[in-house]
Amino acid sequence: MPGEIPVDAEPFKIKMVEPIRIPSKAERKRCLEEAGLNVFLVKGKDIYIDLLTDSGTGAMSDRQWAGLMMGDETYAGSRSFYKLESAVRDILGFEYILPCHQGRGAENVLHTALIKEGDVVPGNTHFDTTKAHIEHKRGRAVDCTIPEAADPYYDHPFKGNLDLEKLESYYREYGKERIPFIVVTATCNSGGGQPVSMENMRAVKRLSEKYGIRVCLDGARYAENCHFIKMREPGMKDRSIRELVRMQSECFDMMTMSAKKDAIVNIGGFVATNHAEIYDRIKNFGILFEGFVTYGGLAGRDLEAIAVGLYEGVEEDYLAYRIGHVRYLGEKLKEAGMPVLWPPGGHAIYLDMKKFLPHIPQDRFPGMAFCAHLYLESGVRGVEIGTLLNGRDPDTGENRPATLELVRLTIPRRVYTYRHLDYVVEAVKRVWDIRENIRGFELTYEPPVLRHFTAKFRWADQSPE
Ligand SMILES: Cc1ncc(COP(=O)(O)O)c(C=O)c1O
Repeated sequence: MPGEIPVDAEPFKIKMVEPIRIPSKAERKRCLEEAGLNVFLVKGKDIYIDLLTDSGTGAMSDRQWAGLMMGDETYAGSRSFYKLESAVRDILGFEYILPCHQGRGAENVLHTALIKEGDVVPGNTHFDTTKAHIEHKRGRAVDCTIPEAADPYYDHPFKGNLDLEKLESYYREYGKERIPFIVVTATCNSGGGQPVSMENMRAVKRLSEKYGIRVCLDGARYAENCHFIKMREPGMKDRSIRELVRMQSECFDMMTMSAKKDAIVNIGGFVATNHAEIYDRIKNFGILFEGFVTYGGLAGRDLEAIAVGLYEGVEEDYLAYRIGHVRYLGEKLKEAGMPVLWPPGGHAIYLDMKKFLPHIPQDRFPGMAFCAHLYLESGVRGVEIGTLLNGRDPDTGENRPATLELVRLTIPRRVYTYRHLDYVVEAVKRVWDIRENIRGFELTYEPPVLRHFTAKFRWADQSPE
C-alpha cells in the first residue's frame, strides 16, 4: 500500500562500500591524547562513525561519478562551467555565477568586494567562516535571530527566522552607508540547523529594500530549508521543492554557496547573483583568490559533479529521506532522555551541554569534553558548537560564552545507515551514564582565528580513565 511506505526510507541502493572499523579503547585513548584532546585533530582512519560535518562528506551518485569522467578541463570557457551555469540558472534562478573552491572562498570574494572597515553585517547566527570573513575585513557581524531560538526546547517551526524589529533598529542606526548587506543563513547551521520561513525571508527582503540594503543568502542548505517550508509553513504544502527554491531565491540579491552540502559533492562552491554590477565587482577578486571566472579553483570534473548534484539535492524523495533520517536520530535520543535541541535540525542533531554537563563552566568547554568522551566510549566523532567555536571578543579578548552550548552530531548525506544511527544513540547514552565524572578542558594552544580547528587542551582537573 503506497501510502504506508515510510517516506524516510532510502531512495537509493548501495553500489560501493568503504570499510570502517572501531579502534580499541586503548587506541582511542592514545589517538585522543596525540590530538591534544581535540577530536578535530584525530585522524579519519581512527574514527568509526564520523559526525564531525556534513560538508563534503556525502556519497556522490553513479550519475555524479559518471559526470567526473565528462569533466572538461579547458582553462577558460570549460563546457563543464556552462553546464553548472545552466543548472544554477534553472534551479536557483540566478543569472551570474562565479565558481569558488568552497563556501568560504565565495564568502572571501564577496566580502572583499563589499565590506569596508567599520561596516556592520546583520544576520541570523552567522556561520563561523562567515563571521570570521566579516571580521577579517574589519567589519562586525551582529546577530538578529528571533529570541525563541535561544531556548533549546521551545518547539518553533522556524527557529532560524530573523527578528525584524531588531534588524530594523540596526538599519536605522547604521543605514546603507555602514551596512553593505545582510546575510540570511538557511538552514541556520550555528543556530541548530533550523529553517527560515518564506514569510520571514520575504519580510526581510521588503524591509531591506526600504532601507536600500542588499540581502545575501548563505545557501549551503537551501534545499533542506525548502523542504521544511513545504512541511511546516501554512499554504506551502502543495508547492514543489523546485517552485519553493525559486520563490526563496527571489528574496535575495545574491547567494554564497558551499556546494559541499546540498549539491552533495566533496568540494566546490559559488557566488550567484542577478545583479551585473555585483558580478562585475566580485569577478576580479574571484580571479585573484580562486582562479579564472569559469573554474574558480575547481577542476572541470568538479563543476560537472556540482551541476548533477544540484538536481539530485532538490529531488522530493531524497529530501524526505534526508530530513527523516536526521530526525530519526533526534527522536531516538529524545526517547532515551537525552537533552536534544528541538525541533531536530535539517542536517544534524544538537545536544545541549548546559543540561548534559551543567557542572562544567562554559570557559572550560563542556562540548569539547563531551566530544572527547564520546570518542573514547565509541569511536564516534561529534563537534562542539559552543564557546570554543564562538571565539573571543575582538575588543576585550575575552571568551564569548555561547548562548546555546551545543555539540552537533552531523549526518553526512547518503553515507550512514539507520543502524549506524542506533549505534550513535547507544554511544551518547554511555557518555550520559558517566557524565558526573567528566571534567572540563583548559587550553594549552590557541590560534588567533578559527581556534576550534587546531586548539589543544589538557583536562582541567584530572585525566579520564
Ligand atoms: C551555513 C554555512 N555557510 C558557509 C559554510 C562554509 O562552507 P565551506 O566549508 O564550503 O567553506 C558552511 C560550512 O559548513 C556552512 O555550514
